[in-house]
Amino acid sequence: MKAIKMIVIFAAILLASCSDDNDRNDTIPEPAPEPEPAPVACSGAEINPERLFLQQLGTDRVIIKWRGDLEGDGGADNVCFGTDIDFMPEESLTAATETETGHLEAELTGLSPDTTYYYSVGGAASAAASRQFRTSPAGGALPADGNTRIWIVGDSGVAGYGKPEAAMVKEGFLSWVEADNGEPADLFLMLGDNAYNQGTDLEHQRAIFEVYPELLQTTSLWPTIGNHEMGSLGISRSADISSYELLGEEDNGGPDPEPSTMPYLNIFTLPANGEAGGLASGTEQYYSFDYANVHVVSLDSQLSIRDDDQRAAMLQWLIDDLSANSLDWTIVIFHHPPYTKGSHDSDDELFDIDQPIFAIREEFTPVFEDYGVDLAYSGHSHIYERSVYLSDHTGLSSTYDPATNAELNDDGEPASGQDDQQYTQVTRSGADDKVVYTVAGNGGKVTTLSEGYPHPAHFFSDLTVGSVVIDVNDAQLTASFINAEGAVLDYFTMTR
Ligand SMILES: [Fe+2]
Ligand SMILES: [Fe+2]
Repeated sequence: MKAIKMIVIFAAILLASCSDDNDRNDTIPEPAPEPEPAPVACSGAEINPERLFLQQLGTDRVIIKWRGDLEGDGGADNVCFGTDIDFMPEESLTAATETETGHLEAELTGLSPDTTYYYSVGGAASAAASRQFRTSPAGGALPADGNTRIWIVGDSGVAGYGKPEAAMVKEGFLSWVEADNGEPADLFLMLGDNAYNQGTDLEHQRAIFEVYPELLQTTSLWPTIGNHEMGSLGISRSADISSYELLGEEDNGGPDPEPSTMPYLNIFTLPANGEAGGLASGTEQYYSFDYANVHVVSLDSQLSIRDDDQRAAMLQWLIDDLSANSLDWTIVIFHHPPYTKGSHDSDDELFDIDQPIFAIREEFTPVFEDYGVDLAYSGHSHIYERSVYLSDHTGLSSTYDPATNAELNDDGEPASGQDDQQYTQVTRSGADDKVVYTVAGNGGKVTTLSEGYPHPAHFFSDLTVGSVVIDVNDAQLTASFINAEGAVLDYFTMTR
C-alpha cells in the first residue's frame, strides 16, 4: 500500500514537472537556428585586358567582353559582380566563353533594372571604380535621375591611322559634361567609319579601344556599319560580309589571317535577336534596342542596302520594328546621310559608292516619317549638318520646298527648334510625321564642302569637328552639337 502511494506521489510530481515544462515552453526561446553561412567573396585576381567593353546593356543583363590580359597576372577568364564595389560575392562568378576571334565574353544575367553594378574581370573580390554600369529602367520608365544622356560620334575612326582629333572631340564632350551637371553618358552611339582606313582589328584597337577606354567600361557601345568597315580602302560596293578584304596593307595587327568576315562583326556582339528590346532582326548588321523610354534603331546602309532582297528585308523589319514600338522617343542611326553637302554630296547621282544615300532618302525616310521616328543620325560626310523639322523630301536638294517640307514658325520661315520655336513630336499639322536629320560625320575630322553647300534642308551647317549629346526625359529632348572645346554650337529641343 505504501508502495502504491509512493508511485502515485511520484506520478503526481512527474505530471506536475511535465506541466511545468509546458509552461516553460511559453517563456524559453526555441534554440537559435543555425546561422546562415556568411557570403563568400570571389577570390580571383583582377586583370587588365587590352580591350574591355560592354555590349547589349539592358534591363536585366549585359555582356562584358574583353581580349587579352597582362602578362603573368594570373587572372581567370571570368567575371564577378555585385552592387557593393567592395564585395563581389562568389555566387556571382560568371565564366566567360571564348569567341572564334580570341575575345572573351561573360553574359551577366538576373540583374535588376535601373541599378548600378560593379564588376571585376578575373573574378577579384572587389571592383575598380572604373568598372561599373547601370542597367536600363524597365517598361519604358525614366531612370532614377530622370534623364537619359546619349553621346553620338560619327567617322571618329581616324585614330586608326594616327590622327588626334577624335580624342580632342572626346575631351570636348567630357569638359561639356563637367561644366553641365557631371552626368555621364548612358548610351554611346557610333555612326560608322569607326576605324579607318580599312576597319581592321588593329584599327579598331587604335580608334576605339585606345581612345575611349574608360567610357567603354561603363557604357554600352552601339555602333553602325560604315564603308570603311568593309576594308577595300572604303570603296567596297559589296552586299556580302564575306567579301571583306584588305587592299594594299600587309600587317593588319589582328588575328592572322584576318577572318573573311568583317572585324566589325567579330569585335562587336550586337543584338540580332532583340536581346535588349526591339524586334529581332536576325542579323547583327542591323538591330534595335530600348533604353528607358528611348527606342534606338541601327540600320546597315553599307551592305544590306545594296542588294534588292536584303534591302527589302531590312525595310520590312524596320516597319515591323517601329510598328511594335510604343516608347516615348525613337532615334535611328545609319552611316549614309540622305541630305548632305559636305565631303559627300546627296545630289551626286553618278558617284556609285554613295548610292546608299539615294536608297535611304527615297525608300527609308518615308518609313521614318510614317512610323514615328523623331531623330535620324548619319555620318559619312565629314561635317556637322542639322536639318529643319522635315518631311516628304525624297528628291534632290533642288526639290526642297520649305512651305511643304518644313515645320514653319509664325513668320512662315523654317522653325529653328530653339527658344519659342521648339519642335513638338506631334507637329502643328497634328501629325507625328516629321524628323530632324543630323549629319555628324565630324567626330574625327572635317574635310571638304560640295557644290551647293549648305544643303537647303539643313537649318545649321558647320565644318568643325565635334559630337552630339542628347538629353531626354518623358516630356522633352534636347540635342546639342559640342565642339572640341566643349562649346555648344547648335542645338534644338523637341517636346511631346
Ligand atoms: Fe568617313
Ligand atoms: Fe563613310
